[in-house]
Amino acid sequence: MEKRRLGKSDLYLSTIGMGCWQYGGGNYWGDQSQNDVDQIVHEALDYGVNYFDTAEIYNDGKSEESLGAALKGRRSKAIVGTKVTPANAFPDDLRQSCEESLKRLQTDYIDLYMVHWPVNALSIQHFTEDKDKINHPPDIRETFSTLKVLQSEGKIRHVGISNHGVEQMEELRELGADITANELPYNLFSRAIEYELTSYCRQHDMGVIGYMPLQQGLLSGKYVVEDMKPKQARSRHFHYSRGAQSRHGEEGVEREIKEALSTIRDLSVDHGVNLIPLSLAWVLSNPDITTTIVGCRNKEQLHQNLEGASGQIPQELLEKLNKATERIKEKLGSSPDYYESRQHSRIQ
Ligand SMILES: NC(=O)c1ccc[n+]([C@@H]2O[C@H](COP(=O)([O-])OP(=O)(O)OC[C@H]3O[C@@H](n4cnc5c(N)ncnc54)[C@H](OP(=O)(O)O)[C@@H]3O)[C@@H](O)[C@H]2O)c1
Repeated sequence: MEKRRLGKSDLYLSTIGMGCWQYGGGNYWGDQSQNDVDQIVHEALDYGVNYFDTAEIYNDGKSEESLGAALKGRRSKAIVGTKVTPANAFPDDLRQSCEESLKRLQTDYIDLYMVHWPVNALSIQHFTEDKDKINHPPDIRETFSTLKVLQSEGKIRHVGISNHGVEQMEELRELGADITANELPYNLFSRAIEYELTSYCRQHDMGVIGYMPLQQGLLSGKYVVEDMKPKQARSRHFHYSRGAQSRHGEEGVEREIKEALSTIRDLSVDHGVNLIPLSLAWVLSNPDITTTIVGCRNKEQLHQNLEGASGQIPQELLEKLNKATERIKEKLGSSPDYYESRQHSRIQ
């Protein structure tokens, strides 16, 4: 399995990484057996996958617990990334969150500790009902100096961010924060980061971890647009009436997605490459992406997804895929916050 260096760090991540949001089961993804998680994690490690991505918020800590249990005895073979929610970015909360994540993960160090969303009132309100925290968000200077202390104590090896835009990264740079990576959405239907984010990260030696490479199953081929479940249909790709707790109020690009999906399926048949490996290989054809993290529910899905690791897309096919999805890219615009309207983007 190819490994790519994450920013200027000493971490070399497998190009296919494991998204662990599903682990532990829960409201968003439904039940998930630990037996399947154990098989995925062990087979992935055997194959050369080394990056595992979780967060304290995923299934209320159960994702971290499940990953920690699966990695027992093989922790040293894995690079573990987890995330603190912005509502827990006050210094004392942050320390507590980090220590609780370490316990759940059954480890004494986190390789990459990320701030899940920018530390601002708009994003904090999704993670807490505490009005005091929402009205008086943490001071990012304090957040990032606390992360530095946790790093000096060996609890975390590298500091990362997720869902941060150029302005927010610039602010952190001015504070002197040493950021290894930014984790952002990236797939054929979610190309906002191509506008300016990837080039900023490249210029500043930050790795980009691409998340949601199959658009939560839509690019796996097993769903058509109409089948996407309400929780997975609350992004700006879908009409606002489709999603459970949809907040963006936009019309979506369902027609464009249907057309593009049909073209991509035809291209996949013509070139003899299945849709999943094609979608993952498309993400990895972008040299600015260090790893693409894909959520797998069982070893069958894992095997299909690993096929995407070896695929190199010929230039001509790449151009056709880009053309097929260009209209979606244009219509959804440059905000990678696919859950909020452009006017209320948390990512600046
Ligand atoms: N930083 C952030 O804010 C953020 C946000 C979102 C995600 N992430 C990370 O990125 C990871 C990946 O994103 P994601 O899990 O949301 O979306 P994804 O990887 O695009 O899609 C995962 C879903 O696709 C389906 N799938 C995967 N492989 C398949 C296969 N071979 N055949 C058929 N269906 C397949 C499964 O759906 P079913 O469950 O229906 O089988 C699976 O749950 C997450 O696990 C998480 O670690 C980070």
